Amino acid sequence: MSTKHPKILLIGCDGQVGWELQRSLAVLADVTATSLCGSYGYALDLLDSDAINKAVAETEPDYIVNAAAHTAVDKAESEVELSKQLNAEAPAQLARLAAEHDAVFIHYSTDFVFDGQSERPYREEDPTAPLGVYGQTKLEGEQRILATEATAMVFRTSWVYGNHGHNFMKTMLRLFHEKDELKVVDDQIGAPTWSRMIAEVTAQVIGQLHSGVKHADELKGIYHLTSSGETSWYGFARQILELSGESCSLLPIATHKYPTPARRPAYSVLDNSKLSQMFRLSMPNWSSALKRCMEDERPTS
Ligand SMILES: NC(=O)c1ccc[n+]([C@@H]2O[C@H](COP(=O)([O-])OP(=O)(O)OC[C@H]3O[C@@H](n4cnc5c(N)ncnc54)[C@H](OP(=O)(O)O)[C@@H]3O)[C@@H](O)[C@H]2O)c1
Repeated sequence: MSTKHPKILLIGCDGQVGWELQRSLAVLADVTATSLCGSYGYALDLLDSDAINKAVAETEPDYIVNAAAHTAVDKAESEVELSKQLNAEAPAQLARLAAEHDAVFIHYSTDFVFDGQSERPYREEDPTAPLGVYGQTKLEGEQRILATEATAMVFRTSWVYGNHGHNFMKTMLRLFHEKDELKVVDDQIGAPTWSRMIAEVTAQVIGQLHSGVKHADELKGIYHLTSSGETSWYGFARQILELSGESCSLLPIATHKYPTPARRPAYSVLDNSKLSQMFRLSMPNWSSALKRCMEDERPTS
């Protein structure tokens, strides 16, 4: 068991998950946080491979946690190279560096690696078949990370929301103010997952690894880290509306009535039992987590 405070290099601290990670990890580690333009933490652009080498060399971390990504699913269709650089090349470099520096690498991936045809929650080992560039490049990232010598854990999550950053919950809250009626897709099913829950689970995992309860070298692989339960975007919107106390008429619509550049899986619920059993964690239901998030604080930016 290590009594030393671990050193963590956190990348992407201005994103939804990265923002929450700053606060969840601060209680258990010395965190060096980076963001793209340095508005929070140090500046680190994942398109600059020399800067990545330098950041790792200077920090000498015990853990590298990468919450940065190209997450704009529709834009990715026309930004293939950028998406590949951020979602596959840079994570592979970070994993190689983690191996060289004997650090554990923690990375996030997505439910969009699946095609959405399953009739039960996806397990980690189920065949992948992404429908768009975002999912393809995130999948390539997973594969390239796991092909390195690094002790790497890849957490696939889904439908992320929270009070910091851009997400469906905040968009709905804004639109409830602006519109009397809203049409929301009702035939895509998934598990909305609060960014804070992702950060808290990550902190629990690192805490257990660092205290020696679990050994990182036995844990390399993919894990599903999502809320429990499932709903549609329409069901998610309904719950946000009820909790907000706003009034707006919500109408369920089919995906084909709301065309987007990227195709999305119709069903992308992830079976999260592997992670919860391995680390004895309970993954809250999406609906109770949403309530906690909306009670926690009102969105600011
Ligand atoms: N959002 C979802 O619904 C969702 C679902 C499933 C999985 N995930 C995965 O979960 C992880 C965290 O997602 P998130 O929702 O927290 O994403 P996010 O809010 O979009 O944050 C991503 C961060 O990456 C940063 N970034 C972009 N380009 C960069 C670059 N060149 N160098 C350094 N940083 C750069 C962004 O900075 P700027 O804001 O300054 O551009 C942003 O702070 C990602 O791996 C994502 O693929 C997300």
